[in-house]
Amino acid sequence: MSTRRNEILKELGLWPVWRLRGPPAADNTAEATIPGIAGASPAIVSRSRSAGASPTVDALSGSAGASPAFQKRSPSVAGGAPALPLDPRAAEFMGMDWPQLKASVAGCTACPLHKDRNKTVFGVGDEQAEWLFIGEGPGADEDAQGEPFVGQAGKLLDNMLAAIGLKRGKNVYIANTVKCRPPGNRNPEPLEAAQCEPYLHRQIELIRPKLIVALGKVAAVNLLKREASVASLRGKVLAYQGTPLIITYHPAYLLRSLPDKAKAWEDLCFAVETMKNL
Ligand code: URA
Repeated sequence: MSTRRNEILKELGLWPVWRLRGPPAADNTAEATIPGIAGASPAIVSRSRSAGASPTVDALSGSAGASPAFQKRSPSVAGGAPALPLDPRAAEFMGMDWPQLKASVAGCTACPLHKDRNKTVFGVGDEQAEWLFIGEGPGADEDAQGEPFVGQAGKLLDNMLAAIGLKRGKNVYIANTVKCRPPGNRNPEPLEAAQCEPYLHRQIELIRPKLIVALGKVAAVNLLKREASVASLRGKVLAYQGTPLIITYHPAYLLRSLPDKAKAWEDLCFAVETMKNL
């Protein structure tokens, strides 16, 4: 195992690593392998009932009915519920390309958050990424730099990505539920998140990610449009507008709550396994 990988795992509070002593249990109980053992595959904590089985998709969660314009890479969670009526602002952004959408966000005054912002934080990364990570909203560092997750939480997010072989900007896109900083780092109000959602929706249409990972409760609740704890949402493949969605803890929360880092690691491994099956 590389020294770099060891350092990342230590920083994630995942040291010493778990080693599998024998063959996986025949009763399909959860198993753990570790990075770098027998090849370079990332650790997998499997929750699936049988080895190699596709993860289950909770298509009832989130807005499973995708709009016709929303062509996904993978049809895995398409169909089901009827499409929701189109939000008038979403209609405004339909058909926008990246430059148009970026310009629209930069000039947005749709909610009170624009009054205190320094920079809008549009999102960053590979515009064709298979992985989309969605956080809550910009903090002070992000507001100053115009890029998501550049503070302490961002460093942890980068390490979490590295632990599963990903890198910001390379097959990964990072965005937030709101594009302007809520003052004092408060949670975005539902109205603010609702006003900003059409931007995120259009970004997702343009990126067409295979998998979305929501970071923390605020992102999860805004995407799923229902109140629930991260603990209750973890370990399932949900859906946002027809795209598979996995929920894990927010890196800022993990900086304060070390024991949950191991759970976040499980979630990342679950996401890797899910991605393999998409
Ligand atoms: N927290 C978030 O949710 N998003 C950021 O961009 C930074 C911190």
